[in-house]
Amino acid sequence: MSLRHRPWEQAADFTIGLRPVPAAAWLEGGEADPAARKDALFETSRDLVWAETEGSRPGQREVLGLVEAALGPSPPAPGLPPLYAAARRVPDDLCLMERRGGAWRLTALSLSAGSFFTAAEVVGRSLKELHRPVTGFSERFLTRVNRIFEGLRPELVLERRNWTLTNSAELHVPDPAPIRARIGAIDPSGAARALQLRVERQTLRRLPETGGAVFGIRVWLAPLAELAQDREALAAFARAWRAAPPAFRAYKRLDLYDPLVAAVFAQAGLVDAG
Ligand code: HEM
Repeated sequence: MSLRHRPWEQAADFTIGLRPVPAAAWLEGGEADPAARKDALFETSRDLVWAETEGSRPGQREVLGLVEAALGPSPPAPGLPPLYAAARRVPDDLCLMERRGGAWRLTALSLSAGSFFTAAEVVGRSLKELHRPVTGFSERFLTRVNRIFEGLRPELVLERRNWTLTNSAELHVPDPAPIRARIGAIDPSGAARALQLRVERQTLRRLPETGGAVFGIRVWLAPLAELAQDREALAAFARAWRAAPPAFRAYKRLDLYDPLVAAVFAQAGLVDAG
């Protein structure tokens, strides 16, 4: 299947979930021409997909150096900020995190597949500010996540995955409102094709020269119908859907999809599973 990861099989709640992966696995690839997709947005919707702060260019250049070390030298890209020159070579969105004024802050980002947020909104924010909408993040995770940023060794590449469900097959979804407005028009008999599993594979690694870190976000999308081809895979998803705690469900607005997802489970005969 085209959905490479099934994070709901590991956890049905918010988790830190970071695990080391080989350095060679930092970039997953899997998209023929990310530059074509990203350049169009960079031209037409710049503030949604790109932002940088003063003083971030050395860190940006270091990210470009890491991408070139992995993929080979870049073609000349005159006038492009180095982080964007790096991001247009990979499917992943790339976020530069640097220590500023005692906190880890997002100092530049290329965000062509942002899930309900925009580059202009989040640039400059600290880890705490970035995660304000995530219920319980400060209490449960912030101290540990800050510690992970402090202790990140240069040779280490960390990975985490998350998931949500949506009714848009687009990678670039800065605003949930127009998408959610279309939910009512979905016929339950076609829900498995209309609903999309949206999985993010996120990576984190140190920038040894400037001391920052690069956070990558690779989005994978597939219709629920694809998962439904494999009964055990759909049953595992049904277990996670039913086990997700209220704060997680509320944050992701899973309630909006309950009747449609129930119809998909029922069509697969999974009414009593869980
Ligand atoms: C590496 C450690 C990190 C952890 C453990 C973490 C954890 C989380 C969690 C649990 C969520 C809720 C969605 C989900 O993943 O299930 C979330 C959302 C988010 N995270 Fe992170 N995160 C990390 C790093 C970052 C970084 C470096 C950025 C910088 C771009 C970032 C930006 C965001 C944003 C913008 C959201 C969405 C908030 C919203 O709904 O408006 N995270 N994060």
